[in-house]
Amino acid sequence: MGKILLIDDDTSLREVVSYMLQEAGHEVLPAANGQQGVELLVENPDLVLTDIQMPVMNGMEVLQHVVESTSDNAPPVIVLTAHGTVKQAVEAMQLGAFSYLLKPFARAELLLTVDQALHTCGLEKDNSRLRRLLKEKTTGSGLIHQSKVMAELMDQVQRVAGSDATVLVTGESGTGKELISRACHDLSPRFDQPFIPVNCGAIPPDLMESELFGHSKGAFTGASDASLGKIRQAHLGTLFLDEVAELPLSLQPKLLRVLETHQVDPVGGNQSVDVDFRLVCATHRNLETEVAEGRFREDLFYRLNVLHLHIPALRQRGEDINLLWDHFTLLHGGVGVYSDDALRAELQKQNWRGNVRELKNINQRLVLMRRSDTLDLADLRRLTPQSGAVSPAVQAITNEGGLPLGPLPEDGLSLIEMEKEIIRRALEMCGGNRSKTAQFLDIPRHVLVYRLEKYGTGKT
Ligand SMILES: Nc1ncnc2c1ncn2[C@@H]1O[C@H](COP(=O)(O)OP(=O)(O)OP(=O)(O)O)[C@@H](O)[C@H]1O
Ligand SMILES: [Mg+2]
Repeated sequence: MGKILLIDDDTSLREVVSYMLQEAGHEVLPAANGQQGVELLVENPDLVLTDIQMPVMNGMEVLQHVVESTSDNAPPVIVLTAHGTVKQAVEAMQLGAFSYLLKPFARAELLLTVDQALHTCGLEKDNSRLRRLLKEKTTGSGLIHQSKVMAELMDQVQRVAGSDATVLVTGESGTGKELISRACHDLSPRFDQPFIPVNCGAIPPDLMESELFGHSKGAFTGASDASLGKIRQAHLGTLFLDEVAELPLSLQPKLLRVLETHQVDPVGGNQSVDVDFRLVCATHRNLETEVAEGRFREDLFYRLNVLHLHIPALRQRGEDINLLWDHFTLLHGGVGVYSDDALRAELQKQNWRGNVRELKNINQRLVLMRRSDTLDLADLRRLTPQSGAVSPAVQAITNEGGLPLGPLPEDGLSLIEMEKEIIRRALEMCGGNRSKTAQFLDIPRHVLVYRLEKYGTGKT
């Protein structure tokens, strides 16, 4: 419902229209002429309804005044005009009026036009505010942030991007390591050259060598064509080694050699090839621990860790949550969708162990499954896992097996730890057979293999 400035010198029309608007729940500021009306603009009305022909300051002048004086936040103006003055109504539209109503108008017509104006302009105002805010807070790589820690990190990214030194990006899962790595490329002098990502955790170890270093024709069974390999594809640009801790130990000296000599030796080839690329790596693991435990070569670690960017967990930068939430709402098609204060307060309280990715997924669920254009706490409870909407099978193991899924602990719970435990037990139950375990867990085998590698349980 809106605050409506109603300007007309006809007293009875003012009374009737005021009554209709008030009955529909609007607040009305009545004015008997343009001069009075313009004075009432300080009350910040959401909408102006003005007659055109009036003795002291006519409707066109009022319109001009509104358009010029309150520019960015100007309320929409609907002009009221008698038959015979339609030409003036059209001029008013050209001057920036939202719409016009021909007198005499019916109640329904009045309320419909008023609602349209309030709705359309409300949305426009909100979206343009949001768009402006997002633009201010976004770097070229679509990174949304407004916290101090992220501003500092982005500052480091800017500085780091200019150099050719290797960058190591660390942070918990879902914090935005891939986005930051991309930003390192986008903001670098190599921005218009290729950015080649390689997920070291997703490529089977035996294929990794040719995937990275390339191979010559006939280098091994099945190599019917030569392949450049990702490193050479990144020539002049940036190579992004994601989940670098998963790079097989056996290939680590070979990568080190490339970094030191700027030359690649394709599998089965007998000639080294010059390459010029910038390396950015990311991992959610602590590489120092990996080194200490013999899973990562120390010399390579030092070579990768020249410049280090650490992304703080989302729970350490609560100020980012609101803006990210609004960004994702728009991203997921929720134009005109609003989130109420109680929901926003709850978002601040959550632990976000899955970080930005978890926030993004929950937002998508809420926006897609919404019942109205206002998202509230009830929607969050209804659509997040805490709602108890688990399958009977899950319910059964959680009750009998003692996994902490019943009432969730107040102070948080690591989904990753839970997943590890479930995978461990399922694997044990299936006698270590990965295909059976994947079937039992209802996930594709390669997903299971990836997780086993990722959690470091695959090697046992
Ligand atoms: N600051 C941000 N602004 C907008 N979107 C973000 C931001 N941070 C993360 N995201 C989004 O969250 C998701 C997870 O980000 P990303 O893949 O970069 O995380 P990650 O740290 O690489 O996670 P993982 O360790 O699991 O690979 C992506 O969809 C990404 O677009
Ligand atoms: Mg990632």
